[in-house]
Amino acid sequence: MTLALLPTPQDIARAVTLLREGLLVAFPTETVYGLGGDARSDIAVARIFEAKNRPGFNPLIVHVPDLATARTCAYFSPLALALAARFWPGPLTLVMPLIDGSLSALATAGLRSVAIRVPAHPVALDLLKAAGIPLAAPSANPSGKISPTTAAHVAAGLTGRIAAILQGGPCEVGLESTIIGLTGPPTLLRSGGLPVEAIEPLTGPLVRHDNTITGPINAPGQLVSHYAPNASLRLNALIAEPDEILIGFGPVTGWVSLSDTGDLTEAAANLFGALHAADILAGSTGKLAIAPIPEHGLGRAINDRLKRASAPRHP
Ligand code: TXA
Ligand code: MG
Repeated sequence: MTLALLPTPQDIARAVTLLREGLLVAFPTETVYGLGGDARSDIAVARIFEAKNRPGFNPLIVHVPDLATARTCAYFSPLALALAARFWPGPLTLVMPLIDGSLSALATAGLRSVAIRVPAHPVALDLLKAAGIPLAAPSANPSGKISPTTAAHVAAGLTGRIAAILQGGPCEVGLESTIIGLTGPPTLLRSGGLPVEAIEPLTGPLVRHDNTITGPINAPGQLVSHYAPNASLRLNALIAEPDEILIGFGPVTGWVSLSDTGDLTEAAANLFGALHAADILAGSTGKLAIAPIPEHGLGRAINDRLKRASAPRHP
């Protein structure tokens, strides 16, 4: 059952209740409709990937109602503050150093940075203010399908897979936000709803890493060993070698388990936390192993992530 909610105070309150339970609510933004879930909850974020049927875990954009809330999740440089002051609320996403522990590790795909924006749509702002929760929200469409710019598009793709759709009319911009990386020299990571010409007067010439221009290999999370733990990682392990730390799943028990019951949503929620914890325990010369994960549903995304984590390292 997917509820159709109107942008009334009563329905927004219902949406907030659902979000606080870790359920998913699609909501309008000025760019495209987003599929929102509690960005602090691993299980809520796992449900986002599940609902979209995504083959991999890429880091998600975290939506907040204002700069003050954004500053509880990320460290702002003077340039970041200037960009936020000029363009928020609006179709600009900033990637900044993450404040540890402020968000689900799955929302940031285990990275030490986070992508944040304040959307301009009044319904999105009402929802974010009422929720008091940062919302991870990729576009509200099944993976590989076109981005939704009306509530009807969302309903066509995700009915039955999410708790509710908050209606808010057609999206004005109709194109995802522009993403600027600020963890190094200011970099265009994705062109989008805010033209580069508007941004460069503040940043100077942007480094171009636009994955819409140079192909998917430059998208964060798609670099082969991008998420590699320090330790080596052996896949499809049924028992640990004497010098290995085994991460279990289902019947394979290890030092820690992604899910004792073999639940893939729970496993996705635990994935990055388990890898980090096992990696710290193993130390830089250590060895990790992980149980086989079935290649269906969220298992595909988990295996995609594990393949990258176990790939030979770049120097
Ligand atoms: O317009 C939009 O931005 C829409 C609406 C719903 O707000 N949202 C959206 O979110 O497009 P999403 O989660 O699909 O955007 C994810 C992209 C990633 O593919 C990646 O390119 C970038 O945001 N991203 C997220 N976190 C990042 C990080 N830590 N470093 C670099 N890029 C990051
Ligand atoms: Mg999308």
